[in-house]
Amino acid sequence: MKSKLTVLATGGTIAGIAGSAIAKDYRAGEIGIEDYLERVGGLGLEAELSGTQIANIDSADVGPAVWHPLHARAMEALADEECDGLIVTHGTDTLEETAFLLDLTLPANKPVVVVGAMRPADAVGYDGLRNFANAVRVASDAQAAGRGVLVVMGDRIFAARDVYKVRTRGTEAFRGFPRESVGMVTPASLEWFGAPWRSDTPARCGLPKDLPEVAIVYVYAGLDAQSVSRQLGSATRGVVVAGVGEGNLPECVRQELVKLAREGTLVVRASRADEGMVDREPDDNTNAFVAARALNPQKARILLQLLLAGGETEPAAIQRAFDGR
Ligand code: SIN
Repeated sequence: MKSKLTVLATGGTIAGIAGSAIAKDYRAGEIGIEDYLERVGGLGLEAELSGTQIANIDSADVGPAVWHPLHARAMEALADEECDGLIVTHGTDTLEETAFLLDLTLPANKPVVVVGAMRPADAVGYDGLRNFANAVRVASDAQAAGRGVLVVMGDRIFAARDVYKVRTRGTEAFRGFPRESVGMVTPASLEWFGAPWRSDTPARCGLPKDLPEVAIVYVYAGLDAQSVSRQLGSATRGVVVAGVGEGNLPECVRQELVKLAREGTLVVRASRADEGMVDREPDDNTNAFVAARALNPQKARILLQLLLAGGETEPAAIQRAFDGR
């Protein structure tokens, strides 16, 4: 029997048009979902697809204004007995953020797959149809449930919590950390590298209407405390530091952040390194800092926003959430 999948479209290059195969003339989010599903119809995929257009934009512009309707429609689809799984089409630039936000705020009872493309629909070597066909195969597989939100790109399946974009060009643009990928897929085959890991099927966090202001401070050689304080406003409730190495900070910046932490701002130490595991160190106890563990700064920011919005302000409890990701 064909699986019934709901497709929620947000735009990006998967729905983009280049206009020319040889000139630089590219626009993300040009093809509407009805048109897209008609194009996909020719592939003979074993699924009944129904689509909703949530947005049709470049993912650089994705944020709470898209996340809220996307999340609401996803919750509806996951509660619908007629829906076997969900596919979200998305631009690749901020795909990891939306995928992680959904991972934290959706139940894990049915497959949820986020997919994009690196080349627009009329480009030579468009990867969007293959990625989409792969996403259909994953979302149709009952074994995809219990793994949280998954990302399908370049014939590989990643967990939302691990995935990040590593290249600006080419179809192998995503990697996973600390797990590389959790499975492999082609339009004709699917292989998982292990059993589902999430027995906690309810959503781990709510998605409240207002998300608190959390800043990311990027550390570089020569960063001083004045630059940091100029970046932070009085409404800032949390700071994620993209530190050097294992979340390290210049001493003057550390002192500035300790001052903020004493005044109640939550400070999370992450790393600007791509594969940056940041563990707790003894000073974190005295500084009341949190270690981001395997989350990169942009994902750490989302988790911190959701925790603060849910009323959590204790560094120890926030650390436990980061440990559990
Ligand atoms: C975008 O993120 O919307 C544009 C780039 C892409 O999808 O690859």
